Amino acid sequence: MDVFEAIAERRCYRGIFKDVSIPRDVLVQIIEAGIKAPSACNQQTPSFVVVDDCATLKRIAEVIPTPACKTAKAMIVCVSDSRSVYKGLSFYKEDCAAAVENMLLALTALGYSSVWIDGALRFDQKAEKIAKVLKIPDTKHVQVVLPIGVPLAQEPRTTRLPFTQRASFNTWSNQT
Ligand SMILES: Cc1cc2nc3c(=O)[nH]c(=O)nc-3n(C[C@H](O)[C@H](O)[C@H](O)COP(=O)(O)O)c2cc1C
Repeated sequence: MDVFEAIAERRCYRGIFKDVSIPRDVLVQIIEAGIKAPSACNQQTPSFVVVDDCATLKRIAEVIPTPACKTAKAMIVCVSDSRSVYKGLSFYKEDCAAAVENMLLALTALGYSSVWIDGALRFDQKAEKIAKVLKIPDTKHVQVVLPIGVPLAQEPRTTRLPFTQRASFNTWSNQT
């Protein structure tokens, strides 16, 4: 699958995953895609905890009890660091998002699915609860969780506005 096919194929999968385990070398390959993502001033602020141990997966699924999290064979927890990297500015959200998108495209190309869980972590101290399970230091923050597996069913593709409502050449043209 080339990069354009992976972009077209990627979608958030929130359903049940098949009972198919994910080899460690595949997980490493996905993380390597995240590590290769750009980051502000190449400061590489995101780090990753890969969870493939059943007991730990279960503890995270207790915090996020969705079908995908309850059946995921692995999860990648993206950990951000909000330290300033340039003239007092920090870019941890952008750094993390770039890494997440790279990993989503990589896992799609490898035949797996996931869902970008971020907003849901901001309620009921879910991010902090997951940080505690994974023994993440107080200086870091759980930004995104990616439950990964082989989807049991096809999730319908979401739609996008057409090019003309999102983009224009040379001058602004009343994009939405
Ligand atoms: C910053 C960000 C936060 C998100 N947070 C969540 C979330 O907490 N839970 C969830 O189910 N999906 C979450 N999503 C996934 C979006 O809902 C999804 O990407 C969007 O609806 C488009 O669908 P698609 O990814 O299948 O194309 C998030 C996506 C982004 C980029």
